[in-house]
Amino acid sequence: MTGLEGKKFHIITFGCQMNEHDSETIAGLLLREGCEKAEDPGDADIIVINTCSIRENADKRFFGTLGQLKKQKALKRDFIACVCGCMAQQEHIRTAIRQSYPWVDLVFGTHNIHEFPELLHQVCQARLDFAQKDEQKGNEDLILQGPGSYTLAKHSIRSSKETRIIRVYEDSPRIVEGMPAERLYRHKAFVNIMYGCNNFCTYCIVPYTRGREKSRHPEDILEEVRNLCEDGVREVTLLGQNVNSYRGIPKEASSDEKTWDFTDLIYALDRIGGLERIRFMTSHPKDMSDRLIEAFAKCRSLCGYIHLPVQSGSSRVLKRMNRKYTREHYLELVRKLREAVPDITISTDIIVGFPGETEEDFQETLSLAREVEYDSAFTFLYSPRPGTPAAEYGDQVPEEVKHERFDRLVETMNEISARKNLEYVGRTVKVLADGPGKKGSSTVNGRTDGFKLVDFPGTEDMAGNFIDVKITEGKTFSLKGEPI
Ligand code: SAH
Ligand code: SF4
Ligand code: F3S
Repeated sequence: MTGLEGKKFHIITFGCQMNEHDSETIAGLLLREGCEKAEDPGDADIIVINTCSIRENADKRFFGTLGQLKKQKALKRDFIACVCGCMAQQEHIRTAIRQSYPWVDLVFGTHNIHEFPELLHQVCQARLDFAQKDEQKGNEDLILQGPGSYTLAKHSIRSSKETRIIRVYEDSPRIVEGMPAERLYRHKAFVNIMYGCNNFCTYCIVPYTRGREKSRHPEDILEEVRNLCEDGVREVTLLGQNVNSYRGIPKEASSDEKTWDFTDLIYALDRIGGLERIRFMTSHPKDMSDRLIEAFAKCRSLCGYIHLPVQSGSSRVLKRMNRKYTREHYLELVRKLREAVPDITISTDIIVGFPGETEEDFQETLSLAREVEYDSAFTFLYSPRPGTPAAEYGDQVPEEVKHERFDRLVETMNEISARKNLEYVGRTVKVLADGPGKKGSSTVNGRTDGFKLVDFPGTEDMAGNFIDVKITEGKTFSLKGEPI
């Protein structure tokens, strides 16, 4: 095999935690091949763009980044440009790459991350073969003046076109276990418990880019978390597009061994010594069980925080989104959660301007937000995704109406967040310190059990420790305090 040792790599990640964690796996795989990390993309021999396709601006940012890679390709003959993630899963994107981005060397998908090192070797080998043939033909590596202020290495672009590998699978029937991961933090980790999504919300591209739901065996998850804890991890975030539909079949299951649901998994994880905090993302309101709500009160390490995307406060819109719950059902869940854990913090996702959304529908979203009093919210302008049902709906909301509603929603949400954060002033909270805060300042930041971001004076070596912090200031998106 061709050697990758010593090559420097840089990964650019767009999108959700699922992608962030995939990038940790990709980094782990490259380090295992003897590659080294390059902090600065300009120093890299290999760049991987891990893409997201959730909204149109994610697509745009990707193509912008691809454009920049062309310069790097022109300057370094052996440079390898790789594209993966959710955009790679879509045929029209691969066609665009084939036709208009000849400097991309390797495209792989969300189902074959484990094949990445092998594919890289194949690209390197194909290049060696190509270069040999080129030499035999007497072709020189011409440096031409490119369209920008940089020079374009004709050979490397030509070689990319000839030796490029595009390997993407629609879906995968199995889960690959035992992959390495280069974690961003020593003290906290993401753990996938399931992959894919079966829900087909009518606006969403994810079921098309991540395939159908597949749950990992519970034993594999427990072993991974135990190993992480032995390695110093104190907080895990369990990942899945809808963790509430986790169905883990025990290995070598006999007929009397039942399938584990998400709550079974939480109770088992809660028994792992050394694990202080369990979080999860994301919970679909349609599948949230009373047993899980009860677990919030009973489990020592399950954090008092839930991200519960509502998307809209109007049952009519929710129906057209194919969300399979109503406004009333959602509000009832919130009531039960608060009954079980009175100071639970709640965040959400809201889409504004879904096709057919009227001012009355939007008012229902505003009133629901006020009623729930979210601690924080991610608000999005509806973005039609090619291939999803809602993109074809005839009653698209005009851009200016979407923007105007969006501004009103953000104002309401920020008002609520700021008010809720003010209530923390004077309280002492336990913060798991993540590391240095803003550059140039002598602050450290971290999260409370309820996922509130807290800034406080401190030093780098606090990272990974639990610190009691007295809150002195409540801002819209964070808290400030003093360690005590
Ligand atoms: N699986 C998670 C969410 C994944 S996508 C869940 O079901 O909650 C994250 C968020 O992006 C979604 O909750 C939704 O609010 C938003 N989103 C998804 N598709 C979108 C689109 N086409 N336009 C705008 N926002 C979208
Ligand atoms: Fe998308 Fe809906 Fe699946 Fe979430 S549950 S990933 S919003 S289809
Ligand atoms: Fe984006 Fe794919 Fe996540 S589309 S939001 S990276 S699952």
